Amino acid sequence: MQFREIMCGIVGYTGERRACPVIIKGLQRLEYRGYDSAGVAVCQENGALNVYKCKGKVSDLERHLEGKDSSGTIGIGHTRWATHGEPNDVNAHPHLSRSGNLALIHNGIIENFRVLRDALRSHGFTFRSSTDSEVLVNLIEFVRESENCSLEDAVRIALKQVVGAYAIALIEKGNTTRIVAARKSSPMAIGIGDGEYFLSSDAASIIDYTQSFVYLKDGEVAVIEKGKPLHITNLEGREAPVSIQKLNLSISQLEKGGFDHFMLKEIHEQPDTLGDCIRGRVIPETREIVLSGVLENKERFLKARRIIFVACGTSWHAALIGEHLIENMCRIPVEVEYASEFRYRDPIIYPDDVIIAVSQSGETADTLAAVEIARSAGAFVYGICNVVGSSIARGTDSGTYIHVGPEIGVASTKAFTGQVTVMTMLALLVGRLKGTVDSGYYHRVAQAVLELPSTIRKALETAGQVAALARTFTYAHNFIYLGRGYNYPTALEGALKLKEISYIHAEGLPAAEMKHGPIALIDAEMPTVAIATLDATYEKTLSNIEEIKARGGKIIAVVSDGDELVRRSADYCIEVPSTVECLMPLVSIIPLQLLAYYIATYKGRNVDQPRNLAKSVTVE
Ligand code: G6P
Repeated sequence: MQFREIMCGIVGYTGERRACPVIIKGLQRLEYRGYDSAGVAVCQENGALNVYKCKGKVSDLERHLEGKDSSGTIGIGHTRWATHGEPNDVNAHPHLSRSGNLALIHNGIIENFRVLRDALRSHGFTFRSSTDSEVLVNLIEFVRESENCSLEDAVRIALKQVVGAYAIALIEKGNTTRIVAARKSSPMAIGIGDGEYFLSSDAASIIDYTQSFVYLKDGEVAVIEKGKPLHITNLEGREAPVSIQKLNLSISQLEKGGFDHFMLKEIHEQPDTLGDCIRGRVIPETREIVLSGVLENKERFLKARRIIFVACGTSWHAALIGEHLIENMCRIPVEVEYASEFRYRDPIIYPDDVIIAVSQSGETADTLAAVEIARSAGAFVYGICNVVGSSIARGTDSGTYIHVGPEIGVASTKAFTGQVTVMTMLALLVGRLKGTVDSGYYHRVAQAVLELPSTIRKALETAGQVAALARTFTYAHNFIYLGRGYNYPTALEGALKLKEISYIHAEGLPAAEMKHGPIALIDAEMPTVAIATLDATYEKTLSNIEEIKARGGKIIAVVSDGDELVRRSADYCIEVPSTVECLMPLVSIIPLQLLAYYIATYKGRNVDQPRNLAKSVTVE
């Protein structure tokens, strides 16, 4: 059986320090992504190549390392997350080559590993693990021995035979200074220190040491040697430019800031993160919108025949709100696609389409593939990402960062509100340029965007009430979430939050659809969360609530401040501040994020790293 490596973490070091503590610290910073085993390889001063790995957490690896010889100043480490088969010590990385001369860590999937493994077996190779990664390290060794070439040449030749996705790093017995790394469709950043180098699948994991990074591009091979300039080539051996980028991330941004969980911190951070997202983009005096990615490509937006959003998970929910915003303000037809479906159904893409790829991580494999398909069809591709320098950010023609800072909790919260805020600014700007948005409306919405930080701050005041309410519903087995119009996607997102972190089954529906089937589920055991804020469909939602009430269902309603009517039918009302209708999803989602959070913590769930989920899904 194939053991697929996905969402794994990579850290490496070469310099004057002891490599192991640097690697362990980096791996700990990547822990939030979810993983099931961890390991390190260190080349000792005497040239010995030692590998230590085990199933479990990085803390288990630390215990495993106690009393072992891991004092070398060069090393590579890995956290592995298997999707099939048992995670165990043997399948953990690093993997050693047959001779024990090479140690390799790998993120991604080698799709043709069976063919390669059979070929290697015919040359007498045997395999300890079930991983594709062990096949790769042996392929590199085989090439090196048969071609009698350097390690980097062997890596290049081997990778040309590989079909799939990878970010790899290798060290070698007897070489105490050099790491060879390469990537394709899986992220890899090289941190530049003073005479030392760091390596990571996520630059944020090594910002304790450096803020200067080189992001390897697809098909590049890097020779990272202590005290020497970084040397990057492509698979053909041609020299590639080394472009250093500065990352302005503080360590406190990465830590929990006094909250019990990253998710709670990220929920409460939203007034600030939205402030960062808006800053410089809506000019307070004039309410002018400055999104350089749109302004520089004005014609593409003005002439767009259609806009297609491609995204997954929470980003897909944000895109559903984007559809309302753009159709309403720009009068351009919009489609919202699951990237995973879009990529495999031979979609019709016109050169005058604009594709908007939405992704927090900027690394989601399906979204990246959708971007590539759209680009090859000649469409203009725009990215809405959070992670600066991520693959989607680099693979699109232009775009806007949401700038909400690192999101660590697996369940996305502040990225969702950042994405919707960017989409609102984009719709306003394009609508203004096209002349499809009325000036009064434009100013009202732009002003409401400027006020978002304070509006969200008020919405967060519901936290105490929601926490108390959550206790009452902690033991429910199912939930229904209802919303209409702009708040239908909010209902989907509220339900997703609950599923992800509490493991309670929840379904989001457009309220009017209840009578077409789901109302049959209603009884005293099936709570309904209804978003019934004052908007165009308020009264209709109210009738839907009454229908549920009449069938003995329990209702938790999210209502506008001061609401009287819904209160008469609902069992519990959570009052949120009002803003323009198109921004209401940003307000209504706040109590739903909090509800999911508190129910999950009362159930004792691992909120930041829920079972079976990973933050960044870098393979399909
Ligand atoms: C994973 C995460 C979700 C996220 C989705 C899309 O499933 O657990 O929280 O919404 O991927 O991720 P992206 O980084 O592309 O927004």
